Amino acid sequence: MAREFEGKVAFITGAAHGQGRAVALALASEGARIVGFDIARQIAYPGYALGSSDELNSLQREVQTKGSQALVFAGDVRDDAAIIKAVNEAVNQFGRIDILFNNAGICFYGKSHELSEEAWDAMLDINLKGSWMVGRRIIPIMIQQKSGVIINNASIASFRGMNRLSHYAASKWGLTGLTKSWAIELAEYGIRAVSIHPTGVNTPMNDGLAALEGKTPREIAEASAGNLLPVPWIEPEDVANAVVFLASDKARFVTGSQFVLDAGLLTR
Ligand SMILES: NC(=O)c1ccc[n+]([C@@H]2O[C@H](COP(=O)([O-])OP(=O)(O)OC[C@H]3O[C@@H](n4cnc5c(N)ncnc54)[C@H](O)[C@@H]3O)[C@@H](O)[C@H]2O)c1
Repeated sequence: MAREFEGKVAFITGAAHGQGRAVALALASEGARIVGFDIARQIAYPGYALGSSDELNSLQREVQTKGSQALVFAGDVRDDAAIIKAVNEAVNQFGRIDILFNNAGICFYGKSHELSEEAWDAMLDINLKGSWMVGRRIIPIMIQQKSGVIINNASIASFRGMNRLSHYAASKWGLTGLTKSWAIELAEYGIRAVSIHPTGVNTPMNDGLAALEGKTPREIAEASAGNLLPVPWIEPEDVANAVVFLASDKARFVTGSQFVLDAGLLTR
């Protein structure tokens, strides 16, 4: 039986670990060829371990075990030259880009009036501007194809104010506006754009935030979440299941939507 994404190509940012990696492997299992893009080094913010080049390289090998192929690129979503290089090589080698999962992101705490300008900019530049930076290089390819799906990884922080996370919430509210605007601009070309909004997810981000706060990952998740279902967090594979659906033709008329995976949190 043909796999769901046979012949398709998915470009995934923040692919080295966490949700990006889970999504890459899930799409590869369904036949998609993967372009994994990750900073793969440590930077000043957020202060916990980001992906490594070992993780990024091992993703390439793991995708092969799923019966597909991957290209991986170490690069920052704030670096236009690195994005252009990855996009050009992806198109040269794989011929097209059908799915963009804008997922690279960081999170760290700080009261808004105590944040430095550098800290504010790091958050907004990676989580929001970085998604636009990658999107603007891939959209022309999708327009030429007259097809494509963009899925932006936002958060439940797109719907609320959050204590000590004003910069994170601002970036994720902004990502929603970007997504809906892309949906409007790109519908005529058969391109869809949706945002997803997970509650806390069991990833290195959550572990890193816990270490910064001197708490356990469970304490961190419970403090910021408040899920209705009795779970502290959801798993990266839960996010991957949602992305597989949204990227597929089963969701062919889903665009401009905010797809919530919140274990009921926003119901309260
Ligand atoms: N973990 C959660 O609880 C949670 C909940 C809701 C939404 N999110 C969002 O989901 C996305 C993925 O989060 P995660 O939990 O997998 O985080 P993570 O820290 O486990 O993984 C993030 C990946 O993004 C990469 N990355 C970070 N900055 C980058 C940059 N400038 N350029 C390229 N790559 C970069 C990292 O190297 C890492 O591999 C983020 O946008 C995050 O805001 C996370």
